[in-house]
Amino acid sequence: MRRAEDRPSRRAFLGVTATALAAGVTAGCEPGGSRPDGPAPVSPVGPRQAGVVLPREAQPNLLVLVADVDDGVAVGPLLAGLGEAVRGLVAGTDARLLGLPPGDLTVTIGVGPRLVRAVDPALPGATDLPPFAHERIEPRARGGDLLVQVCASDAVVPPVVAAALLDRAGAGVRERWRQTGRRGSAVPVKSAVTAPRNVFGFIDGIVGPHAEAEQERDLWLPGPAPVAGGTIAVIRRMELDLRRFAALPVADQEAVFGRSRSTGAPLSGGTIAADPDLGAKTPDGRYLIPADSHVRRAHSSVVGVGHMLRRSYSMDEPAPGLLFISFQNDIRTFTNTLTRMDNSDALLPFTTTTASATFLVLPGFSPERPLGSTLFR
Ligand code: HEM
Repeated sequence: MRRAEDRPSRRAFLGVTATALAAGVTAGCEPGGSRPDGPAPVSPVGPRQAGVVLPREAQPNLLVLVADVDDGVAVGPLLAGLGEAVRGLVAGTDARLLGLPPGDLTVTIGVGPRLVRAVDPALPGATDLPPFAHERIEPRARGGDLLVQVCASDAVVPPVVAAALLDRAGAGVRERWRQTGRRGSAVPVKSAVTAPRNVFGFIDGIVGPHAEAEQERDLWLPGPAPVAGGTIAVIRRMELDLRRFAALPVADQEAVFGRSRSTGAPLSGGTIAADPDLGAKTPDGRYLIPADSHVRRAHSSVVGVGHMLRRSYSMDEPAPGLLFISFQNDIRTFTNTLTRMDNSDALLPFTTTTASATFLVLPGFSPERPLGSTLFR
């Protein structure tokens, strides 16, 4: 078989700068960082997988693919093979890429609770998500054994990469559901942090563990050893009632979120980067950030959990909405937040969740440490 064109300079770049890229210290990782010959590549190898905090500014196109793994399949070799394929695809040396330039392609792979439980039911990632309010989820779109999240600046790349990985995975891996997503233009939040607007017009992804120390505390799993360097992903396809929301006066839309639509600033004042002041009141004693507003209901200190990293994508198929994606090192960060929102968050009546799953995002990998090798033989 003829192999896709190899680009030695690119391969050398990926080899030499893998560590620097993993640490996010090259200029190419800065928001808007691009090179005349295309977006900067992101190393697939290192202590952590790409596509969670790198590239810093998430690529504009995403494809999430969720699959089941047949009982007879040896999970260790399956994951090791996928990791190897990811390296070839990101390097542009895999023939299945059909000669497409991979650019800033990242692939992030996770395993579902059933596979984690088979290793050790006490491990993080072994628990399924419970049902929540405002759901209409077909059995096929709930859960799954394998997550493949593919992101790239070039919209054509993710479906080709997903096909290549399914091909590599073989007959024992059966696709369950997939979803594409797109990110709007990046709006600056604070140094090196940007966030896009969602289809409700609001800037989404402002609050989160953006600094390295916060990521160590709330995002990455510190242990036990088989999962150290991984994280827990939650993926929810949330269809949004755009017509009903758009019909509201802007002030009512802002009351739903608790932030200004145009600037992203909390309704308690300050800039987009300011912390919402949940105690601030009007002279007549009403909260500036309403009691049922999303930022109050979801606020980590009110819920009593750590910060989740939200890296969601907008979608227009099968309906306008948000493919909500969060990463956190404790599933309760998500479940306790949504439980609290379920009670009275003004945003939720505009949402219908039609797909839902959680995965253990595997620790990073390299040629010496194959993907999944800390968990599966
Ligand atoms: C379609 C559904 C959703 C939309 C459109 C949405 C949108 C937003 C927006 C615009 C903000 C304010 C800006 C920001 O901090 O990024 C926000 C904040 C937040 N959202 Fe959501 N969100 C949705 C669902 C969820 C879900 C399901 C969760 C988790 C269970 C969640 C958790 C949070 C958290 C933790 C914050 C930060 C609150 C703070 O501390 O200020 N959101 N969301």
